[in-house]
Amino acid sequence: MNAIVQQVNPNKALWEKGDFTRIAVSMRESGEALVRTLGVERGLKVLDLGCGDGTTALPAARLGAEVLGVDIARNLVEAGNRRARLEGLGNLRFQEGDASELTDLKDQSFDLVVSIFGAMFAPKPFDVAQAMVRVTRPGGRIVMGNWIPGDPTLVAQILRISAAYTPPPPPGFISPMTWGIESHVIERFARAGVPQQNVSFMRDTYWFRFSGTASHLVDEFRRYYGPTMNAFEAAEKDGRGQDLRNELEALFETQNTSGRKDVTSIPATFLRVTVARG
Ligand SMILES: C[S@@+](CC[C@H](N)C(=O)[O-])C[C@H]1O[C@@H](n2cnc3c(N)ncnc32)[C@H](O)[C@@H]1O
Repeated sequence: MNAIVQQVNPNKALWEKGDFTRIAVSMRESGEALVRTLGVERGLKVLDLGCGDGTTALPAARLGAEVLGVDIARNLVEAGNRRARLEGLGNLRFQEGDASELTDLKDQSFDLVVSIFGAMFAPKPFDVAQAMVRVTRPGGRIVMGNWIPGDPTLVAQILRISAAYTPPPPPGFISPMTWGIESHVIERFARAGVPQQNVSFMRDTYWFRFSGTASHLVDEFRRYYGPTMNAFEAAEKDGRGQDLRNELEALFETQNTSGRKDVTSIPATFLRVTVARG
């Protein structure tokens, strides 16, 4: 009898682990603010790639756009569709898909492709750039939000600290953080046929707002955010779980700007990339 071997896609497994919706609730305000800057209007065809449970997809749909959210994680797609149903947003739909392929999506079918801390986590970054350009109509735009390696603010620091507790990635692995380096972004879109002058950059800020202590927010990351869960698993195997916890707690506490103990408000800098599809 032939055994059926199920291949695990580590990228999918990472994001289906835990429950990213628990982290996403602290990011809603910035998601809405960002969408308000995108010139979204009724009927605009929007693809939100690596959309999670819709932090940016829902605000775009509330403005009347026709929105498709694509994400690799089945649980997040289900959560997004639940949120869309609850709000009665018939112009918003979520489906499973991989940003490196987008095989289900037709060429030139979107006016705006948005990917906020989403497509940056897909493997094969050149394929991702190619896929995003392919599905954008001529004259359309791509807007990405990417965390920046070495940045002193929250998310880059969580990922830096976590990396110090996890085994090195396999050979050939390209760090998602390279999407936060302008020269890499230019090279990836150039290979997809977009000239450098059509790619622009700015630094922007996302806020994590949480109604609890900084330490409680560390717990949320530990229990529900795939990359941090993996870091804790590896650290605990080495007997270093408490060290990781202490480092993250110190980070979250020093970055909390709320001036209060019971509420946490932390800014995180990101690279905002805008690509004009000529
Ligand atoms: C940090 S979360 C951001 C989610 C959402 N954009 C937001 O702002 O809340 C990263 C998202 O990218 C998704 N993702 C990771 N790799 C992906 C891939 N290859 N294709 C599509 N989505 C992917 C994850 O499942 C997750 O929802």
